[in-house]
Amino acid sequence: MDKLIQLTRIGFGTTFSFYVKVHSFHWNVEGSDFYEYHKLFEEIYTEVYGAIDTYAENVRKLGGYIPTSYHNLSMLTKIQDEDRVPSKDEMIQELLQDSERIQIVLKKNYDAAEAAGEHGLSNFLAERMDNHRKHAWFLRASLKGSV
Ligand SMILES: [Fe+2]
Repeated sequence: MDKLIQLTRIGFGTTFSFYVKVHSFHWNVEGSDFYEYHKLFEEIYTEVYGAIDTYAENVRKLGGYIPTSYHNLSMLTKIQDEDRVPSKDEMIQELLQDSERIQIVLKKNYDAAEAAGEHGLSNFLAERMDNHRKHAWFLRASLKGSV
């Protein structure tokens, strides 16, 4: 398969699984400042969800297909699944690591898009990287003083 298509599918799958994780943390987070993190996670998953459809359509524009099963979708992701319900601080730490990992995945996708002259896609990815960088900042700032 074309390298750019595969990197775009990986970026899509990674973004999608990150969305699912953040939304589940929004539901599961607990603690004295529950509502603050319930809202922060909502802000992040809402922003990320807003990019899912465009990401998938970019895969299709290149001629690639979106996995039609949850199993195949999960094969694309570059972030680790979470099977537990972590503590609030663990959630923040984990989402921060994921946000940094996603930026690396997106940068690979961006470089391949630029090399192929796919500037519509690279513009989209530049914005995605910037948004994930902002999420990382919010998460990092939330951890200050707690670990
Ligand atoms: Fe909710």
